[in-house]
Amino acid sequence: MNHFYIKDNRLYAENFLVEELAKQYGTPLYIYSKNQILRNYREINQPLVNSKLDFLNCYAIKANSNPEILRILSEEGAGAEIASGGELYLALKFGYLRNKITYTGVGKTDEEIEYALKENVFNFTVESLQEIKVISEIAHRLSLIARISIRVNPDIDAKTHPYITTGMKENKFGIDSRDILCVFEEANKLPNIDIIGIHSHIGSQITEVEPYIEAVKYLGSLIEKLKEMGITIRYLNFGGGFGVQYKNVISHRYIPDEEDENKAYASLGEHIQSVISLLSHLDKKLIIEPGRSLVANGGILVGKVLYTKQGEMKKFIITDTGMNDLMRPCLYQAYHQVVPVTLKDTGYETVDVVGPVCETSDFLASKRKLQKLERGDMFAVMTTGAYGYSLSSNYNARVRPAEILVEGNKVQLIREREKIEELHY
Ligand code: LLP
Repeated sequence: MNHFYIKDNRLYAENFLVEELAKQYGTPLYIYSKNQILRNYREINQPLVNSKLDFLNCYAIKANSNPEILRILSEEGAGAEIASGGELYLALKFGYLRNKITYTGVGKTDEEIEYALKENVFNFTVESLQEIKVISEIAHRLSLIARISIRVNPDIDAKTHPYITTGMKENKFGIDSRDILCVFEEANKLPNIDIIGIHSHIGSQITEVEPYIEAVKYLGSLIEKLKEMGITIRYLNFGGGFGVQYKNVISHRYIPDEEDENKAYASLGEHIQSVISLLSHLDKKLIIEPGRSLVANGGILVGKVLYTKQGEMKKFIITDTGMNDLMRPCLYQAYHQVVPVTLKDTGYETVDVVGPVCETSDFLASKRKLQKLERGDMFAVMTTGAYGYSLSSNYNARVRPAEILVEGNKVQLIREREKIEELHY
């Protein structure tokens, strides 16, 4: 059972009534479940341990970099995939070992590269020959060696939203598959560079295993070609991207069934198993970089209804939380289940659940069938533990929400609600 669940028509987070937590800490409020996050991590990690493969499981900390969540995963032994100097700072501060930190990104600045070299991160995933040359120069100046993995763009369709597809020709990520062998050859000649691996992250919210299988097969064939060229790499990194379920997360007789075009979600276990079976014969060390799959269903965003308004075409449920707290619906037309914290048999109405921000795109749910909600009712936006708070902003000079963590009977405030007086800093 998920650690967010319904009992006696009321929504719970581990042993707490969500409504009570929201009353105590105010809304909007992010609530995370420690046990759910741990369960997700172990579901991915244990099959790797059992497989006897040599591997690194690096949490993509961009998904949620709340210090306490970072700590939960570093204490479990996770490494970190970072995308900036800021994320390196956080990873080091909250317990990630340098030899488990891998640094990705198409646009690393010279200062960030120098910082990461001095901190001796385990790996730079590099995305252009120009970048490799800059890393080589800086490493040479500092008399350090940069371990790099070269990211290839394999032109594989991850079958996900175009904004979170990264492995196709038209995307800025990785090195074109036509050039990849030449880039390896050139990089191999550069001073202070140790090529340790090959990397491919083809996208996010991938719900089928086929694109991974295709990517791993492609990487396997590249590794063979590189071997013929006298370049032996030790690490195969296939990024993150495991998809999670956003619809029908909570089922109940008072909640309408949500039509899901994607019925056959691969479970985390299936995702990882499919890759393990392909990798065993390659004799390489494996790096994975899961983000969403570790934290998404470990968090919810709780809001409160401010007003209800009947327009000519639609009914609006106007709430105290919106696009600055949760950007995913307006940015990717992402779907998040909305669940009233107290379920009632009111029948359904079709509404748009919107925020208070001065933008038409400020919606949490559009044309959604929900029980009748009234001013003062609270609701949860489900599966918002990943890319929720981390994508939030102060737009409209709104303060960011508080974040709390529950674990059994324990609750902890893990980030205070911002105060308006802090807005000018
Ligand atoms: N590795 C690399 C190199 C990445 O760029 C990413 C995510 C990950 C790993 C982790 O991917 P995940 O396991 O979380 O799918 N804001 C978007 C998702 C952007 C993903 C960016 N890169 C969203 O809310 O859907």
